[in-house]
Amino acid sequence: MSIISNCTATAIKDAAAALIKGDLVAFPTETVYGLGADATNMNAVRRIYDVKGRPAGHPVIVHISSIEYLGKWAREIPNYALKLATAFWPGPMTLILPRTDLAKDFITGGQDNVGIRVPAHYGALSLLQTFESQGGFGVAAPSANKFGKVSPTTAFAVEIELGKYLNHNDKILNGGPCKIGIESTIIDCTKSTPSILRPGAITKKMIELTIGDSNRLAPNQEGEKIKVPGLLSSHYSPQANIILNGLPNKGDGLIALKSIPTGEGIIRLASPKDAEEFAQILYEAYREGDNLNLNKIYVIEPEGDGIEIAICDRVNKSSNSNN
Ligand code: TXA
Ligand code: MG
Repeated sequence: MSIISNCTATAIKDAAAALIKGDLVAFPTETVYGLGADATNMNAVRRIYDVKGRPAGHPVIVHISSIEYLGKWAREIPNYALKLATAFWPGPMTLILPRTDLAKDFITGGQDNVGIRVPAHYGALSLLQTFESQGGFGVAAPSANKFGKVSPTTAFAVEIELGKYLNHNDKILNGGPCKIGIESTIIDCTKSTPSILRPGAITKKMIELTIGDSNRLAPNQEGEKIKVPGLLSSHYSPQANIILNGLPNKGDGLIALKSIPTGEGIIRLASPKDAEEFAQILYEAYREGDNLNLNKIYVIEPEGDGIEIAICDRVNKSSNSNN
């Protein structure tokens, strides 16, 4: 029997109860599917690591239903972080902030800061609200994939990735395909100026326009003390080798904007019309390439300084995993 259910009122209620009991619930967000556990329950969070095969010590993002819960998890919140939270939550943005005592080492990887996000998906928000109404404070959730692999953007992809590692009390909520398709923008808000740790759909320009001139974005992570262990240089990788901007041969896969033609004998995995659609379908196109047992998938990266930056970041990391 499948453990997938649609986000009906009953399924959400059961899923929130499962979280309270310490079981795991995979749930949809606008970015990618998350594998959730009660963020105050050490054993439940440990199970996330077991199921994902993730090495210990990696911090996990805590998901809350609204900015009102931010103060439970984070303290010393700079003004620019409040501006960002007000502007972009619910939405594809994670803020790293100094933690309160509620955020234990098993959430933060032993660091003094915690990652917080309010996702913009009706299924995720109803799950979080119901969980909070039953006494919960937040749901810890990394992407619902095996460690180092491609994040799932459908409930079926979650079941294929993790189904055999979940038990019969765990649940997968189906909220349709994710609208954005790549993981949230992560912003370090622990210093006097913010910096982007992982690019995403909330772009540099959007952040700059929101925080204004008084709080310029710090150039980047150079010399950064903050650890983002999930951001290893090889990540987000399918079985196939990902090759950037080269010329595919017969039998190779190709992911490129619609305007780019498909050569003879090339297996076109996706033809998105613009960068937003590119992000949305990228991981499913990788999965399709793996289903077809392709050895090589060529990706022609879209150019631009919006979500294109995040697409190139993920595609470069997938290509670093080639062996
Ligand atoms: O869009 C997303 O962010 C998705 C959905 C499910 O919300 N989640 C996600 O989680 O991508 P995950 O664990 O796959 O990636 C989160 C990244 C990891 O690289 C982790 O190391 C970093 O965020 N992170 C989490 N908390 C952190 C913290 N306190 N300090 C530094 N990095 C942190
Ligand atoms: Mg991940």
